[in-house]
Amino acid sequence: MQMIHKASISGAGKKPRFCLVAGAIVLVMSLIVTPVSSEPAGSYDDFETPETCSECHMAIHTQWQHAMMSQSYTHEWDEIEYFKLAVPHAEKDEKVAEVKAGCNGCHAPLAFHAGDIPPPRPSEGSRANEGVSCDVCHTVTGFTGDTPFNFNFISSPGETKYGPRKDVESGGHEVAYSDFLSTPEFCGTCHNEKDPYGIWVKSTHLEWKEGPYAAEGIRCHDCHMTTGRMQTAEDGNVYDDARLHLFHGAHDDAKVRGTVEIRIYPEAPAVKAGEKVNISIALFNQKAGHKFPTGSVEDRIVWLHVEAVDASGRSFHLPVTPKGFEGEEYTIGADEFAYQDMGIALDDPDFAGVQRDGIPIGDRIFRMAYFDPQGRMTIQQWNTASLGVDYRFGPRETKLEEYSFTAPADIAAGPVTLKAVLYYQKLVKPVADFLGVPEEASRSVVVNEQSVMIEVGP
Ligand code: HEC
Ligand code: HEC
Ligand code: HEC
Ligand code: HEC
Ligand code: HEC
Repeated sequence: MQMIHKASISGAGKKPRFCLVAGAIVLVMSLIVTPVSSEPAGSYDDFETPETCSECHMAIHTQWQHAMMSQSYTHEWDEIEYFKLAVPHAEKDEKVAEVKAGCNGCHAPLAFHAGDIPPPRPSEGSRANEGVSCDVCHTVTGFTGDTPFNFNFISSPGETKYGPRKDVESGGHEVAYSDFLSTPEFCGTCHNEKDPYGIWVKSTHLEWKEGPYAAEGIRCHDCHMTTGRMQTAEDGNVYDDARLHLFHGAHDDAKVRGTVEIRIYPEAPAVKAGEKVNISIALFNQKAGHKFPTGSVEDRIVWLHVEAVDASGRSFHLPVTPKGFEGEEYTIGADEFAYQDMGIALDDPDFAGVQRDGIPIGDRIFRMAYFDPQGRMTIQQWNTASLGVDYRFGPRETKLEEYSFTAPADIAAGPVTLKAVLYYQKLVKPVADFLGVPEEASRSVVVNEQSVMIEVGP
């Protein structure tokens, strides 16, 4: 399922296409050190609208509209988390006050640049709705410091659009070659994030960097901005390797599907009634260039559900055999409450929380838990003071899980099917239901499934 761009974008911005902005306007280096109020406020008009670009770059504009980049401010879950949780929390807790502005550095860069904090709600149709727009990316010239994170890109809005090709001409604007846009560090300026407690709450670029793909020179772009034969602009050239603006990720089921392969190994080809067979399952992350899940790890949940089904159709749920590592309790589905810190924003200090997982008890979860300053699990990345065990799939990592099935005395004669399904939800369901987030965010996506048969022996 692909997301379709729904929110309205106003055409309010006058296009300053032929006005040169003197000097580079540097966006705030880091939301940790620099309160936004001390920044010289720019103006929305420093940036051109995506509609302006679409006059000539139609195909790329359509791709962008179907990507989350165009919805980074208007998407329902973003709106709910920002306005219902982050803003009220930031107004009550000095420690996290900076996120009221900081969220927008990546999600609504124009509003952040204009100092329009908090930006108008998406329904008001302001230019904050443009999200991560063409002109945001194509006027970036580098980043500050050693590590890209917390929107520390250098922004130079103006007539010149930076792009990946040398010797390109455009009647629409000045064009300048920049190799920075082609680097994963460019992506990392928004895809790495440190919160007010100094915790890396988002580290897709850092995960990539320490993994096998970086070593082989395979970049973010090779998987999320693939190339195809296309004319990139009206009156422009047709390229065999035109850079497609797909930016497909967690919101594209087809992208998520098949990320992990599953192999099931029963220790014996048959089981006798009343006896036990051990089963191991190998899960291989064949597809993601970083960990899976990555990005908004505090929201995401990936879990393996295993069942044995006898010939009469009766099914038996098999819980994972624990391995005994520290923090493992957060990686096995349980009847626990969590997320009590939502009570801060909701003015309910005694808030008991909601179900932690919302999945069958005993299923293996591949996640990294985020903890608030009181040590309770949280989905509020800005209120994260420590991280739990990292039990996600590294790029090209294979994890082995153990199960066992004890055949009941009255098991039906005939084959028993051992079935494993790996599920994914972008937002843990009890939280989504509690906050009224549309079902799209918490529906289960099948990453992969596999089954094998064993016999019931005499
Ligand atoms: C998230 C940042 C981002 C956004 C948003 C974005 N682009 Fe790009 N664009 C890139 C990057 C990165 C490249 C070049 C990648 C490479 O080739 O290494 C690129 C390449 C291009 C190219 C050159 C393609 C080629 O193969 O010659 C054009 C033209 C372009 N973008 C126009 C647009 C337009 C128009 C929009 C809005 C509808 C847009 N871009 C939105 C990051 C972005
Ligand atoms: C009047 C038409 C027109 C408009 C409007 C326009 N462009 Fe272009 N642009 C072009 C043409 C033509 C090219 C050259 C394409 C080619 O043959 O490579 C181009 C090339 C580019 C490139 C590629 C540079 C490179 O190094 O390959 C980028 C990036 C770009 N435009 C961004 C933008 C953005 C962002 C906007 C909106 C703010 C925009 N353009 C608006 C016509 C236009
Ligand atoms: C200016 C900040 C910024 C830059 C630069 C940026 N991104 Fe993003 N990107 C975002 C934001 C914000 C979202 C989240 C939109 C949402 O879900 O609210 C996003 C979403 C995505 C998604 C979709 C994820 C999903 O959940 O479906 C992909 C894929 C992605 N970006 C890849 C890239 C790549 C590759 C680059 C570099 C070429 C890049 N981004 C550069 C801000 C940025
Ligand atoms: C080898 C291919 C590959 C490379 C390289 C790669 N990705 Fe991905 N990416 C994927 C796949 C597959 C998914 C879908 C599964 C998932 O969510 O991890 C994905 C998902 C994502 C998501 C959505 C994650 C979520 O849970 O919301 C983002 C954001 C993203 N990638 C950004 C990046 C950035 C930034 C880089 C470079 C630093 C990068 N990717 C490098 C394959 C790749
Ligand atoms: C450093 C850049 C950055 C900052 C700062 C940032 N985000 Fe994000 N946010 C992203 C990126 C990139 C993604 C997409 C990652 C992914 O796909 O998993 C994202 C994803 C999200 C999502 C999940 C969207 C979805 O549909 O799954 C929500 C909600 C969100 N951010 C809200 C916030 C709030 C609220 C704040 C401030 C407290 C904030 N973000 C601060 C970059 C940032």
